[in-house]
Amino acid sequence: MNHCMKTLMVGLTCMGLWVAGCAKKAEQDGLTIGMSQCNLGEPWRVQMNADIQQAASTHPEIKVIFKDAQNDTLKQRAQVEEFISAGVDLIIISPKEAAPLTPVVAQAYAKGIPVIVLDRRVLGDQYTCFIGADNVKIGRAAGQWLVTHLDPGAKLVELKGLMTSTPGQDRHTGFMEGIKDANLNIIFEADMKWLEANARKEMESALARFDRIDAVYAHNDPGAHGAYLAAKAVGRESAIKFIGIDALPQEGQVYVEQGILAASFEYPTGGQEAIDTALKILKGESVPKEITLSSRIYEAKP
Ligand code: FRU
Repeated sequence: MNHCMKTLMVGLTCMGLWVAGCAKKAEQDGLTIGMSQCNLGEPWRVQMNADIQQAASTHPEIKVIFKDAQNDTLKQRAQVEEFISAGVDLIIISPKEAAPLTPVVAQAYAKGIPVIVLDRRVLGDQYTCFIGADNVKIGRAAGQWLVTHLDPGAKLVELKGLMTSTPGQDRHTGFMEGIKDANLNIIFEADMKWLEANARKEMESALARFDRIDAVYAHNDPGAHGAYLAAKAVGRESAIKFIGIDALPQEGQVYVEQGILAASFEYPTGGQEAIDTALKILKGESVPKEITLSSRIYEAKP
């Protein structure tokens, strides 16, 4: 047997032992998954954790430890470091921002702890698997929707999600592609950092500056709702079409049914897929580097 073959055999044996080790550990005291959530102040994130919990509850061999970073990047980094020192079997992270959380994810990955990155990305490829919907595609669909529902020359407000997070960047890029050949003008844009209260404030400024606004594209439904409340407070809501992203059954879908939002694009949490993928990884099965979730539109009935 040549050197390469030997190395391969040793590698495979180690992998086999590791998988067997995991199976044995699972039988004895279960497997621990550390879930690092960037914040729980928004309904969509509460839903993501609930989806993870629900999916995990049917697998008694795994235990999920949830940590909430309360929208603080440094806290989230420290919490992932705690997972690494505790020696969890796998980490799921939905990072607040891409760049500052890249090193800690890479550190876990380098130590042999599999990492699933959920919804918002980190930079580079030092993680096991990314799961999320295609935000460029969703942004493009939102842009195209406005192109077909507005008259040429229409004036738009764009309320962006946190621009240091990848969904904010991608939802903007896709949107610009969607409206690029149309005669629509973005007259006001601001980073509302995913938060309804910020969106409301930004929209108050937009309304004060511009007598005519035809539509608001917000990168999430809380943002669209905040903008709607600002417009309603000055009696201008019926002149404006509000569209958002997330379409949670208890939030965006209800806004659409109530006629508050003209449309909302679904952004699945990926909680179930994260647990399914975690189980495969822990069993030693290979998983794709990227799992793309699908989206659909909810729109008001004509
Ligand atoms: C919640 C949220 C969602 C949005 C997602 C993007 O924190 O703002 O509303 O779709 O994050 O990562």
